[in-house]
Amino acid sequence: MTERTDRNEQRVSVNLAERSYDIVVARGVLDNAGCAIARALGQNGGVAGRTAAIVVNPKVDRIYGPRLVSSLKGAGFSVITIPVAAGESYKTLRAVERIFEQLYRHAVDRKTVIVALGGGVIGDVAGYAAASYQRGLDFVQIPTTLLAQVDSSVGGKTGVNFGSAKNLIGAFYQPRLVLVDPDTLKTLSLRERRSGMAEVIKYGVIADASLFSRISDEIAGLLDLKSSFLEEAIARSCRIKAGVVASDERDMGLRAILNFGHTVGHALESVTNYRTYRHGEAIALGMVSASLIGEEMGITPPAVTRALTDLLVRAGFAVKLDASLGIQQIISLLSLDKKSVAGGARFVLAPNLGSATFGHIVSDAIVTRALDRQRLM
Ligand SMILES: NC(=O)c1ccc[n+]([C@@H]2O[C@H](COP(=O)([O-])OP(=O)(O)OC[C@H]3O[C@@H](n4cnc5c(N)ncnc54)[C@H](O)[C@@H]3O)[C@@H](O)[C@H]2O)c1
Repeated sequence: MTERTDRNEQRVSVNLAERSYDIVVARGVLDNAGCAIARALGQNGGVAGRTAAIVVNPKVDRIYGPRLVSSLKGAGFSVITIPVAAGESYKTLRAVERIFEQLYRHAVDRKTVIVALGGGVIGDVAGYAAASYQRGLDFVQIPTTLLAQVDSSVGGKTGVNFGSAKNLIGAFYQPRLVLVDPDTLKTLSLRERRSGMAEVIKYGVIADASLFSRISDEIAGLLDLKSSFLEEAIARSCRIKAGVVASDERDMGLRAILNFGHTVGHALESVTNYRTYRHGEAIALGMVSASLIGEEMGITPPAVTRALTDLLVRAGFAVKLDASLGIQQIISLLSLDKKSVAGGARFVLAPNLGSATFGHIVSDAIVTRALDRQRLM
């Protein structure tokens, strides 16, 4: 097969000893997926007899499924498609069981590779199925939302919701390869792309001031996907997360810095029953809260809050806390957070653009002062 090349192609190595793998970011890489997967599985000489099981929801399958199937078949895989319903409410054990049923029905063997094509829900569900079926099948992610490209497909967390708890059941399970095709973002709504951009902005704040400044210069072109910096912005985001994950794969410490903006962000999602905000919109508000809390703690310079809010506003995010949201209700949710301790909730704070520290215990009084200020922005 001929492989298309993108001169902006970026490659990120995730270094986890024998579980190391690459993330390839390139426009059009979807059409090269078959060859790229065969190479990553060490099957340069052909993949005859190997099955690729694509896990995908019907909408994404309609748009991108045929190209992936044709690329996989072209590389010699036998292909089956396992449809899974879209949406967070289907991130369940039942969805995993349905995948098992299909794998069983097709009598697939242990050389089968599971290919997750879709957003974070598909990646998490398919990854968990891959981790458990026959005690672990090869797994490849082809994330098609910006959130999945820069966040959920990096780091090996897979799993499903259970009862009212998010991601309660799951496994750390690394893929063999992640293929990111930024062109797939064209069929997402602007709101969905913007939501993912909140995480990209977060990486700039916590770890890379020059990334933050490039995003700031190019925000319009990044959101409409015309900027040639897009591949690099995605790759640098993945590299930052991969670096953090490499030093704290099982989430025992440093990985916490990835939660910048997520403490208040999660509370906002929860207080509004996950109906009002896309995840990134809540995180954008939560990053502003964290910055104001950092100011109140004497850790974050006001210039950081100004740069962050300026960029978020230009990206189209709300930064002001809506008056209808009860501050006390938000605070009571913070104390339920599993990361909270006696004396306050734990926060990740930014002492400067491009750096973050975690484990700050912040009193309710300080959170209240910061959120009061955010209401008046
Ligand atoms: N594993 C991790 O480390 C990790 C990290 C962050 C988030 N997550 C999880 O990710 C999930 C959220 O992921 P998400 O924001 O990608 O949402 P999602 O997976 O629900 O996808 C959002 C919607 O976009 C559609 N879609 C996907 N790609 C498309 C495309 N290219 N064109 C058109 N439509 C498309 C999907 O059909 C879906 O309806 C949550 O369940 C969250 O817990 C996991």
